[in-house]
Amino acid sequence: MNELSKYYDKVLMTEEEIKKMVARLGAEITRDYAGKKLFLICVLKGGFVFMADLVRAIDLPLEVDFIAVSSYGSSTKTSGVVRLLKDIDKPLNDKHVLIVEDIMDSGLTLNYIKSMFVNRNPLSVKVCTAFDKPERRKVDITPDYVGAVIPDEFVIGYGLDYDGILRNLPDLCILKRDIYEK
Ligand code: PRP
Repeated sequence: MNELSKYYDKVLMTEEEIKKMVARLGAEITRDYAGKKLFLICVLKGGFVFMADLVRAIDLPLEVDFIAVSSYGSSTKTSGVVRLLKDIDKPLNDKHVLIVEDIMDSGLTLNYIKSMFVNRNPLSVKVCTAFDKPERRKVDITPDYVGAVIPDEFVIGYGLDYDGILRNLPDLCILKRDIYEK
């Protein structure tokens, strides 16, 4: 990823470290849901890389679906407004739902999504996030599974973008400050 190295000056988590993190989460989820069938719902767009890795680390029968929400635009700050752009296809009444996110920041997005799914009366709803910035939380929501707690930096890669690009970086990196401050 030579062409993309100009966008960051620090790697926060390497591809190898992320692999281990996903393996650990997959093992935890496999243990916790033993004997059950899971329904994983990925929050697009950022969640797609983590989702693809996580499903292959879970040794259980599972289904997948995807939702799309919009909360940020190209700004780095949350607007607090969550819009549902794409919903799932099936009712949830007989499902154990696990929401899969790339990152939790203010918690506003997941708070909205979790309440929406809880209101559809599934068997259970839990949240799995690859990365968490708990110090940024604006609402009282704690993920059930967390890959890594990270500092309050503008992170890119492993599904996370800057202005739509850089999601394909295999490492989790810190965006160069002069790129978003110019
Ligand atoms: C990011 C991320 C979460 C949300 C977290 O999505 O994927 O959905 O922000 O922030 P919060 O905890 O403050 O609500 P973003 O709006 O950047 O969309 P994207 O996944 O399509 O890039």
